Amino acid sequence: MTDARDSQEVKEFVRARYASLARAKAPCCGAAPSTPSAGCEANGLYSEKELEGVPQEAAAISLGCGNPTAIAEIKEGEVVLDLGSGGGLDCLLAAQRVGSSGQVIGLDMTPEMIELARSNAAKVGAENVEFRQGEMEDMPLDDASVDVIISNCVINLSPDKDIVFREAFRVLKPGGRLSVSDIVLLRELPPKVARSLEQWAGCVAGALSEAEYRAKLEAAGFVDVAMRGVGLSLPGSEPLNGFAVSMDIKAYKPGG
Ligand SMILES: C[S@@+](CC[C@H](N)C(=O)[O-])C[C@H]1O[C@@H](n2cnc3c(N)ncnc32)[C@H](O)[C@@H]1O
Repeated sequence: MTDARDSQEVKEFVRARYASLARAKAPCCGAAPSTPSAGCEANGLYSEKELEGVPQEAAAISLGCGNPTAIAEIKEGEVVLDLGSGGGLDCLLAAQRVGSSGQVIGLDMTPEMIELARSNAAKVGAENVEFRQGEMEDMPLDDASVDVIISNCVINLSPDKDIVFREAFRVLKPGGRLSVSDIVLLRELPPKVARSLEQWAGCVAGALSEAEYRAKLEAAGFVDVAMRGVGLSLPGSEPLNGFAVSMDIKAYKPGG
C-alpha cells in the first residue's frame, strides 16, 4: 500500500462503493455520485460496432479506463479471465471472440456487481460466460487454467498488487498472457489525495507508477512487459490531470 491505510478498510470501502454503483447502475470510475465522471465511461472507449451485440445496461455501467478486449488478441477457443468484471461488458465482448469452444470467467468481489453481470449475460443468452464472486488476491481458479487475463481499471484498487500479480501468474497457462488497462501514476500524488479512501475507490490513490508496475509484474515472474499510455486523463477530477494516465499493459508467463 502507498499510505498508512489498512488493507481491509480499503477493500471494504471499495466494495461498498461498487455495490452502490451497481445498485444505482451508474457509470463512473468509482467516483462519489456527486463527483463529475471523466474518462471512465463506455463512451469513446468502445466502438459502436462492438456495443451492438451487448445489452445497453452492460455498456451503461462500464467503469473502465480502456478497452482490454480490443488489445488482448483474444482467439476462438481460449479461456479468458476478467479481473473485476463489474457489470460484465468486457466479458460479453470477450465471449464473442472466444466463441462456443471458449470460456470467459468474470471475477468480482462485489455481490451486487456479480448479480448485475449475470443479468446482463442472461439478456443476450451468453452461455460461454460465468461470473464468480471472489477476490483477485485469492482467485477461485485452478493453476495453469487460463489463456489470457484481461482487466479494466481494477488492479489499481487492490491494496496488495504483489499478491494479485502472483495469483495472475499462478492461474495462467505457460505462455499465457496478461493484457489489462489500468491507471498509472505519472508523478507522486498530493498527500491529501494519496490518503483519501474516496480517491482510492476512484482508481487514483491506489495507482502505481510505471516503474513500480513493471517491477511488481517482473517480480511475480512475468516477462516481456510492455506498457503504453493511452492518454486518458485521470478519472473524476480535473485538478488531478497530469498526475495519472490510463495505460495498456501486456506481460507474458514464460513457457508454452
Ligand atoms: C472500476 S470498476 C471496473 C469494472 C469493469 N472492469 C468495467 O470496466 O466496467 C472496479 C470493479 O472491480 C471490483 N473489484 C475491486 N477490487 C477487487 C478485488 N480485490 N477483487 C475482485 N474484484 C474487485 C469492483 O467490485 C468493481 O466491480
